[in-house]
Amino acid sequence: MDDIAFLLNGTPVVLRGEAPTRTLLDWLREGRGLTGTKEGCNEGDCGACTVMVTDHAGTRALNACILFLPQLHGKAVRTVEGLAGPEGEIHPAQAAMVDKHGSQCGFCTPGFVMSMAAAQVRGAVDHDDYLAGNLCRCTGYAPIVRAAEAVAGTAAPEWLADALPEVGPAPFAPGSSDELAVWYAAHPEAVLIAGATDVGLWVTKQLRDLPEVAFLHACADLQQIEPVAGGLRIGAGVTIAALRAAVAGSHPALAELLRRFASEQVRGAATIGGNIANGSPIGDAPPALIAMGARLHLRKGDARREIALEEFFLDYGKQDRAKGEFVEAVTIPAEAPGLACYKLSKRFDQDISAVCGCFNIEVKCSIIESARIAFGGMAGVPKRAAAVEAALIGRAFALETFEAALPAFAKDFTPMSDMRASAGYRLEAAGNMLIRYFHERSGAKVNVLEVMP
Ligand SMILES: Cc1cc2nc3c(=O)[nH]c(=O)nc-3n(C[C@H](O)[C@H](O)[C@H](O)COP(=O)(O)OP(=O)(O)OC[C@H]3O[C@@H](n4cnc5c(N)ncnc54)[C@H](O)[C@@H]3O)c2cc1C
Ligand code: FES
Ligand code: FES
Repeated sequence: MDDIAFLLNGTPVVLRGEAPTRTLLDWLREGRGLTGTKEGCNEGDCGACTVMVTDHAGTRALNACILFLPQLHGKAVRTVEGLAGPEGEIHPAQAAMVDKHGSQCGFCTPGFVMSMAAAQVRGAVDHDDYLAGNLCRCTGYAPIVRAAEAVAGTAAPEWLADALPEVGPAPFAPGSSDELAVWYAAHPEAVLIAGATDVGLWVTKQLRDLPEVAFLHACADLQQIEPVAGGLRIGAGVTIAALRAAVAGSHPALAELLRRFASEQVRGAATIGGNIANGSPIGDAPPALIAMGARLHLRKGDARREIALEEFFLDYGKQDRAKGEFVEAVTIPAEAPGLACYKLSKRFDQDISAVCGCFNIEVKCSIIESARIAFGGMAGVPKRAAAVEAALIGRAFALETFEAALPAFAKDFTPMSDMRASAGYRLEAAGNMLIRYFHERSGAKVNVLEVMP
């Protein structure tokens, strides 16, 4: 078995014989006795296990509970035990938490401090975003936010600058998509692991023993975003964080939706390929991509094919993907000025959608020329609203047209009731989103985050 080599708090570590699905959190606490990194939920929700991971792409805060050891190969990991300076100086984030009274029981504190430390390295100052994945149950957030504000924009301590270790090939991880294609075609029953933000939970929550696995993080060619004729080709291994940054200028509505995708720690690991391949009816990216007219690129061995993204989702739990075939990329148009994405969830941050409605409507001379509308949370798959689209196309861009299209929702969808929302609520909310779209396109202020005079 190949070695897993990385830097832990500045010291080289080489692991041999570890199961590929052992989590960093489990290894830190039980294998290494580093109990500063806490276990709260063990499913990526609370941030108590936040660590700092640096690789060639930069420094990220990640949840150690859903990070498998092979994913660390060649990287530098810092835990809360590795934040202090060589003379025992505490880190500025730790000092700020003391100064601003940001800690009571202290259980969440290492996680918050690690999120702040990683943000400081990245120069990030948007603490509403980068702390949204850290939960505190006793202090209250105001003192913690004051601590974050004190650290924001200051220089990261030099002692945290880790030189990445020289390592050999990554274990359990093909080094390119060509290698992956050969290996996966020969091992079609294997489980592919990209960011592990879904697969991690199969292990930590469902206690599943996975058969053979292959990690995708060493396929650098799957992590590219490149301009192609008429659009952007996004590799399956591109993280949600990287995609959000890349489309902030060209596709602001998509970028804003991705801000609501999980949390900083999850977005830094989760990939667009995983979000599509898992086939979830409540994944956030697919409805937006379908509304944009995205094309999906699949590969098995040397055979490649391209389909409209909506054709990939056949039924609940069933996708148009053969054994041994993987998602290589998705292409989207260079711009989609008519796109709007509305995510409805019980909490603003770090929550799964009850309904996610994405609209992309083109209007010429006050007539609706084309409409692509897709929803998550309304069916067993991410699905287009074909009847609603038909009720709009060719008609005047007017409130009456949009109101007249509302009954068509019942033709397109028979949503289910679950803990997130009832069927009736979902149908009504979907209709309200369509009306919201009309008002937004007409220039009204509809953003609930904006305070209006
Ligand atoms: C706390 C938390 C919050 C979350 N919030 C959201 C949210 O707000 N919105 C949302 O949409 N999702 C959310 N998720 C779900 C998850 O983060 C996403 O689905 C994510 O995009 C999965 O990507 P991954 O790279 O981590 O996939 P993985 O977990 O690595 O894989 C997921 C599935 O896809 C397969 N797979 C991965 N890559 C490929 C490929 N290239 N080809 C073929 N198969 C592949 C795997 O075999 C597996 O079946 C959340 C998850 C957590 C833990
Ligand atoms: S223990 Fe809660 S996010 Fe990891
Ligand atoms: S200080 Fe107790 S949970 Fe945050």
